Amino acid sequence: MAKSKTIYTCSFCGYQAPKWLGKCPDCEQWSSFYEEIQIKASKMTSRSPSGNHPVSIDHISTDTEDRVSTGIEELDRVLGGGMVCGAVVLIGGDPGIGKSTLVLQALSKLAHNGNNVLYVSGEESLRQIRMRAERLGSLPDNLAVLAETSLEQILHEMKELQPSTVVIDSVQTIYTSELESAPGSVSQIRETSARLINHAKQTDTASFLIGHVTKEGAIAGPRVLEHMVDTVLYFEGDRGHSYRILRAVKNRFGSSDEIGVFEMSSEGLQQVISPSELFISERPERSPGSTVVTSLEGTRPLLVEIQALVSPTALSMPRRTAIGIDYNRASVLVAVLEKRVGMTLYNQDVFLNIAGGVRLNEPGVDLGVIASIVSSMLEQPVPSHTAVCGEVGLTGEVRAVSQMLPRIREAARLGFSECVLPKKTIKSSFKKEAITLVGVETIQEAVDYLFKR
Ligand code: TYD
Ligand code: MG
Repeated sequence: MAKSKTIYTCSFCGYQAPKWLGKCPDCEQWSSFYEEIQIKASKMTSRSPSGNHPVSIDHISTDTEDRVSTGIEELDRVLGGGMVCGAVVLIGGDPGIGKSTLVLQALSKLAHNGNNVLYVSGEESLRQIRMRAERLGSLPDNLAVLAETSLEQILHEMKELQPSTVVIDSVQTIYTSELESAPGSVSQIRETSARLINHAKQTDTASFLIGHVTKEGAIAGPRVLEHMVDTVLYFEGDRGHSYRILRAVKNRFGSSDEIGVFEMSSEGLQQVISPSELFISERPERSPGSTVVTSLEGTRPLLVEIQALVSPTALSMPRRTAIGIDYNRASVLVAVLEKRVGMTLYNQDVFLNIAGGVRLNEPGVDLGVIASIVSSMLEQPVPSHTAVCGEVGLTGEVRAVSQMLPRIREAARLGFSECVLPKKTIKSSFKKEAITLVGVETIQEAVDYLFKR
């Protein structure tokens, strides 16, 4: 069989060239060319029709997808209630964060429940994998392990073994001999992933693909990989801390903003059933600059501590640092505070941190950021039994946030006796909750109330 022809395509404008080019002559982008296998026209026409025909929408069967529990509740939650047969899940995360550990634990559980599963590793030797599995305390019979990087060999073994779930650790190490470029290059990742996904769909094999994350936070390789798979999960956390957060960023079979919380221990990853407790457990009593906010991650309320440190600057441009929340958001809140409460911050450095290294992308934490900054500025602690919640607008108004009830219930459950929140969200039905609700309309009101000014 003649080797298929390769062609180089610009990933921005689609310009094609027979050779790799550093700069695209058409759109003038640099380093945008990737290698592709060109299908010959004769080959394309000889493909048999797939046999698919249009169906009336009310004749489509609505049987729910076959879901298999992975045996790890937090993972099931993020997946939307378990693994769907034939679904392809991409798990991204920094090196050493625990991706391999997580999937190995999930596979062990699946194997224990009688499923035939396959773990393909292109990074570790069989010995290393066995040692890890021993540490995790589980060596089930029907968990097969393959240390291989050749796509053709992997597909061959998958056809032989017919596992119900397969893990590819990681897509960056797998290569197909049909392409000349090195493993890990954009074209290799695209091609190998496409074929693995194709195989998964044809054989109804649930597949986990593990991908590395670049410095910028994107999964290394083409963004198209994220479009090709059904679910994209990011495994994140601070190396310095033992807990990890599994976050869904795309999910065709469930909610996309669900999180799962784990703690890395010497026996692998343990589930954290009540993460709020973990995140506020080290909160210093009565120290200025610390506020507990009732945030929401997916459907789950989460209490976290926001810390601020305001100190006179020695520079002509004061520093603004935000760890765990969006930097621009923090700058806006500092400006709102200056303008609407009349606080002098232009000669102060402001440092913000979410304790424990969680990342929050939710507007409900705004009021907590404001409270922490004011608290540090005035050297006056926020009452330790008070939690806050609310989005802050540019005119200094405190705006409503979604799903207030689970948030205040979580605060009450963890022993908070008071919650400062947007006035508009308070409903008469909230009276039953065992917590005092203080409604505020502006940040001035919130500051006056919290610091008794
Ligand atoms: P790993 O799953 O290899 O990370 P990734 O595949 O994302 O690169 O996790 C490696 C880290 O986890 C390593 O630093 C050791 C730690 N670890 C534990 O603390 N306990 C354990 O039981 C295991 C298996 C790993
Ligand atoms: Mg790994």
